Amino acid sequence: MTHPSIVILTGAGISAESGLGTFRDEGGLWAQHRIEDVATPEGFARNPSLVVEFYNTRRAQAHDAVPNAGHTALARLQREHKGEVLLVTQNVDGLHEKAGSTDVVHMHGALNSALCSTCDHRWAAPLEMQVGEACPNCAAPTARPDIVWFGEMPYHMDRIEAALMQADIFVAIGTSGNVYPAAGFVQMARHVGAHTVEMNLDPSETVALFEDTRPGKASITVPAWVDDILDS
Ligand code: APR
Repeated sequence: MTHPSIVILTGAGISAESGLGTFRDEGGLWAQHRIEDVATPEGFARNPSLVVEFYNTRRAQAHDAVPNAGHTALARLQREHKGEVLLVTQNVDGLHEKAGSTDVVHMHGALNSALCSTCDHRWAAPLEMQVGEACPNCAAPTARPDIVWFGEMPYHMDRIEAALMQADIFVAIGTSGNVYPAAGFVQMARHVGAHTVEMNLDPSETVALFEDTRPGKASITVPAWVDDILDS
C-alpha cells in the first residue's frame, strides 16, 4: 500500500530507557504510590499537597530526561512518511516533543501544562507547582496539574477515533493495555481492517488482538519498524 495512514499509541514503556519509571512494571509508580491517593480527583481534594508534590517530582524527572531512539524514530517517521501519521500518547513526559515530534496528541494531559479547575484555562506549568496557585485567567486559587486522572475523560477522543476509523496501520508501543479507552484502540483499528502491531517488552493484556508483535526494547524495535515503513 502506498503511503498508508498510521495511528501510533505510546505508553510509559517508550520512555523507560530514558530513565522514567513505568506504572505497572516491577517497582513501578503504582507500586510506590496508591493510585487513589495521587491520580484521582478525590485524592487531590483529600490531600492536594501530596498530589502536587507527586507531579512536581515527575515533572522534574521528565524535565531532565532525554528522548531515546524510540522517540527519535517516531519523529523521523512523522517527518518522512508521505501518508498521515497521528502520534497519540498516554505519556505526560514531553519526550516525543523533545525528540522533534510535532502535533502530539496528549490524551492523558502533560506535566508541562497547568489547568484551572474553575475556568478550564491552561497555561505552561512552572517546574514546581504550589497548592492553591491563582489562575492567570480568572485569578481563582484553583490551579491543578493538567493530568487526566482516573475517573476523568481523556482528551482529544473525537480526533483519535476519527483517525482510527481511517487507519491502515495501528501501532501500540510500550503500553500494558490495562487502561481504557486507550486499550480499546486496537479493537477499533481491527474493526476497520487496519494492520495492527504491538511493540512491547512483555506481552500486553491485549496482545492477542494484534496481528503482528515485535517484542523487545522500544529503542531497538521502533527504529527497525520505522525503517521498514520508510523503505516499503
Ligand atoms: N520498551 C518497550 N516496552 C517497555 C519497555 C521498553 N524498554 N519497558 C517496559 N515496557 C512495557 C512493559 O512491558 C509494559 O507493558 O511498557 C508497558 C508499560 O505499562 P504501564 O506501566 O502499565 O504503562 P502504560 O500502559 O503507559 O499505562 C497506561 O495508566 O496509570 C495510567 O495514566 C497512566 O498513562 C498511564 C496509563
